[in-house]
Amino acid sequence: MSEIYYPHKELFENPAFKNMCEYEDLVKEFEKDYEGTWAKLANEKISWFAPFKKVLDESNAPFYKWFTEGKLNVAYQCIDRHLKDKKNKAAIIWEGDNGEKRIITYLELHREVNRFANLLKSLGVKKGDRVVIYMPMIPEAAFAMLACARIGAIHSVVFGGFSAEALKDRILDAEAKIVITADGAFRKGKPYMLKPVVDKALEGVDCVEKVVVVERNNEEIEWVEGRDVSYNDLIVNQDNECPFEIMDSEDPLFLLYTSGSTGKPKGVEHHQAGYILWAQLTMEWVFDIKNNDTFWCTADIGWITGHTYIVYGPLAAGATTLMFEGVLTYPDAGRAWKMIEEYKVNQFYTAPTAIRLLHKIGADEPKKYDLTSLRILGTVGEPIDPAAWKWYYDVVGNGRCSIVDTWWQTETGGHMISPLPAATPIKPGSATFPLPGIFAEIIDENGNKMPPNEKGLLCITKPWPSMIRTIWGDPERFVSSYFGTAKKDGKPVYFSGDGAIYDEDGYIWITGRVDDVINVSGHRLGTAEIEAAIQKHPHVAEVAVVGKPDEITGESIFAYIVLKSNENLGEDVELMKEINEIIAKEIGNIAKVKDFAFVPGLPKTRSGKIMRRILRAIAKGEEIKQDTSTLEDPSVVEKIIEIVKSCQI
Ligand code: WT7
Repeated sequence: MSEIYYPHKELFENPAFKNMCEYEDLVKEFEKDYEGTWAKLANEKISWFAPFKKVLDESNAPFYKWFTEGKLNVAYQCIDRHLKDKKNKAAIIWEGDNGEKRIITYLELHREVNRFANLLKSLGVKKGDRVVIYMPMIPEAAFAMLACARIGAIHSVVFGGFSAEALKDRILDAEAKIVITADGAFRKGKPYMLKPVVDKALEGVDCVEKVVVVERNNEEIEWVEGRDVSYNDLIVNQDNECPFEIMDSEDPLFLLYTSGSTGKPKGVEHHQAGYILWAQLTMEWVFDIKNNDTFWCTADIGWITGHTYIVYGPLAAGATTLMFEGVLTYPDAGRAWKMIEEYKVNQFYTAPTAIRLLHKIGADEPKKYDLTSLRILGTVGEPIDPAAWKWYYDVVGNGRCSIVDTWWQTETGGHMISPLPAATPIKPGSATFPLPGIFAEIIDENGNKMPPNEKGLLCITKPWPSMIRTIWGDPERFVSSYFGTAKKDGKPVYFSGDGAIYDEDGYIWITGRVDDVINVSGHRLGTAEIEAAIQKHPHVAEVAVVGKPDEITGESIFAYIVLKSNENLGEDVELMKEINEIIAKEIGNIAKVKDFAFVPGLPKTRSGKIMRRILRAIAKGEEIKQDTSTLEDPSVVEKIIEIVKSCQI
């Protein structure tokens, strides 16, 4: 039995949900009148230029459409409509790696975004064009996203840690016309570079016409004549006003690439109205955002968390969002707590991997700072273990803040399962219950609800406004990836790729991916992508990678490699270094292998399928309970176990 923690109600003044009865009421309202309830919320929250005609169009399922024929502009929703009451309110507070500060008010944000939008237009960017944003964590990254939204261009932000190859793949897949980047930025007191990566990525690429370079760290870079332009030079001549494009609810807003279990990364496509509605609503429901709050999400804008909870959600809600260029552990283990004290942060949202790291390197550090401004502590990206939870709750939150363990995905656009901070009794490690309007259920393939304590598929059985619309350029993959596994009442439903369990009180416990996706530090990596990179090494014949539990990063990557010649069995550190360099080049440092074994073969079924479950068990040092007699060569398992054991000594 796990302990239950009740919200400290005195922290919350007028929360969206005061108690579980209010939660139940709205859940019931959605059950009674699904479309009507969504319509009410959409009308209340969005500044429409023209009303929508239909709430949910299911005629081409699973390509669902929401709020059809409604007209809006997401940049208007995030900026212009706040100017009346909040023009001098801080929209973005930015802190640089070295402690440098910038405060951008809503009026300034309006001006910066308009100027950037005009700059993009002057380079020929039009509604529907794809703009790749490969940027550090500086305000210009947010300006760039919103500038695209203003003129109806589709942005695709690529995480700055991805390699030139990974960036190139994404640029080509989206057929981007423009790349926005920076010379580089600062990390742990030192400059690092992005522009050279873009230069490399663009070798042999024809679709990109211009590269806009924000000069941030002023390090030496190469300028390609006719292609590269300086943001700093051009922005000063732009007009402060840029008319916004009137967008349809179902026009694309952005693409964000994420890993699947097979093949190349998929360009998850999000559209306008449904996405922004849910980004804003979850800020109010889950983060209890209030006018005077300072909200800090530590994600990178290259991930969905950064999109929804640094840029779109907080700004749509008219809040103040804190954006940080540096790392939480630099110059010391107190950096995060110092910033919370200094800015009087009210909601702090980070990943379990960061919590574990901060705990490890400075368990008592939070006590040195005044953290009493905090009301809500959020986590996202992976299940949080009891030790990390307890420290977050007791030491960071001083035993009074609500912890919201938010389960969601790139594909869901915003939170799906999460406590409501002033209402939900919390069990540490459980994301608790689906948010109102979200029909998240743990079922089997035929749609039967799983009984308590039995693992099932975590599915969302009704379409929801902020759901993925398709995979860019690959609608079949969209259907097969998400709607090919489970059915309810005979109808395909969205399957998340995660397994989960109900406990006897109906709390949801996420058990992790059931597909071949590894979660390292809350980042999704497909085994197929990593294997394809490793395979590029000339000595490698075959490879299988699996996730192995890791104290800090949640999971780490374990590679079983079969070499073309069987001489070098065991551990060959030099060869592994070479292989990791290939991974860094093909994907990025985040995908590097931590543990490895050179083995004589892989455990395969007679039909040639690699039995990853066995490899996962070996990586964990677990006993193999599975029947191995059906394998093509059962003796290979013993050999692998021997080798892994000898490597660990
Ligand atoms: C996968 C989605 C959502 C933004 C960050 C990652 C795992 C996410 C939780 C949580 C347990 C979680 C799932 C999910 N995940 N949040 N609170 N508890 N697991 O986005 O890269 O799209 O990854 O992250 O496995 O499927 P993403």
